[in-house]
Amino acid sequence: MNKSDNNQNSVLAEEKLLTVDDETGIRHLLRRRLSQEGYRCEEAESAERALDVLAAGPISLVILDIRLPGKSGLEVLPEIKTGYPDTAVVMATALSEMNTAVQCLKQGADDYICKPFNMDEVSLSVQRALERRDMQIRLKEYQNYLEDKVEEQTVEIKKLSLGAIEALVYALEAKDRYTGGHSRRVTEIALALGRELGLPKENLEDLRWGSLLHDVGKIAVDPRVHNKPDRLTGEEYEHIMIHASVGAGIVQPVVNERVVKTIEHHHDYYDGSGPLQALAGSDIPLTARILTVADAFDAMTSDRPYRSAMSIKDAVGEIERCAGAQFDPEVVAALLKTAESEAVATLIAASSGPPIGSGS
Ligand SMILES: [Fe+2]
Repeated sequence: MNKSDNNQNSVLAEEKLLTVDDETGIRHLLRRRLSQEGYRCEEAESAERALDVLAAGPISLVILDIRLPGKSGLEVLPEIKTGYPDTAVVMATALSEMNTAVQCLKQGADDYICKPFNMDEVSLSVQRALERRDMQIRLKEYQNYLEDKVEEQTVEIKKLSLGAIEALVYALEAKDRYTGGHSRRVTEIALALGRELGLPKENLEDLRWGSLLHDVGKIAVDPRVHNKPDRLTGEEYEHIMIHASVGAGIVQPVVNERVVKTIEHHHDYYDGSGPLQALAGSDIPLTARILTVADAFDAMTSDRPYRSAMSIKDAVGEIERCAGAQFDPEVVAALLKTAESEAVATLIAASSGPPIGSGS
């Protein structure tokens, strides 16, 4: 036996076959020949027993008689192909059952062999079916590998894109002495509110990204309006408000739809009376309603070009006064509990560096 034969036998030794036939003589005949060729062989006298053997451990190939007592080979074939897609099936059939054999091929059988058996044909059919199975498994593994790679790349690209958008937000804030650190603080406040409201982890993550990126659309706002030291006119306020929909459009390719909606609706009034607004009440996503309160709270407790920062107490009072109109009462209730907490007080205290918060 040369080296190549040795290699071939070591590959075959890994292949376990199962012959399913109610005739002991046929099972033994197949076992003898296939064992001689290096395959490990199991036997079953019925479809039910065959399913037991398959459940006990991996089988590379089943030689399945069509006529079996109880459940027929034709009946059990779909069960095998569904439950054990990596197992090849060769149907054993009498010449008079050719139509059934063709039906089996349509249902996923890999080949069929005719009784009385020509053992060379049996051997060839088994070999071909195993080669085909091996190719299918390799193909599936390669497809999985490619899918994993694409997924990996997509995650990496999204991470980079999110990082770039985040950097853009910080760059925009850094340009304006009144908005430095606004998005980071709003994120912390929004998350504190979200946790107080019992948001699930997944929605807290949406809220985090929505809050961090909520003002990226300000890149489209006229700097003369954005940096205006006096109070805004109604028209100017409406112009600034376009940043919500512009921001949603900027982040849309790299975040999920919930984050997009959070940003798009972060200036919607709870009672529906805000400018450029289509939704109201609970139709506005909860993450957006939370962000609205967090955004306003940070704006009020920050200096403005035309006024000094409000105290936490006054800001909470002002937000409470607007509950049901501009703000969701449930979120306001959460703010009342959260604003007194040490964490938020620390956060506000930490913001008392350069003046902050345009609140838009
Ligand atoms: Fe905003």
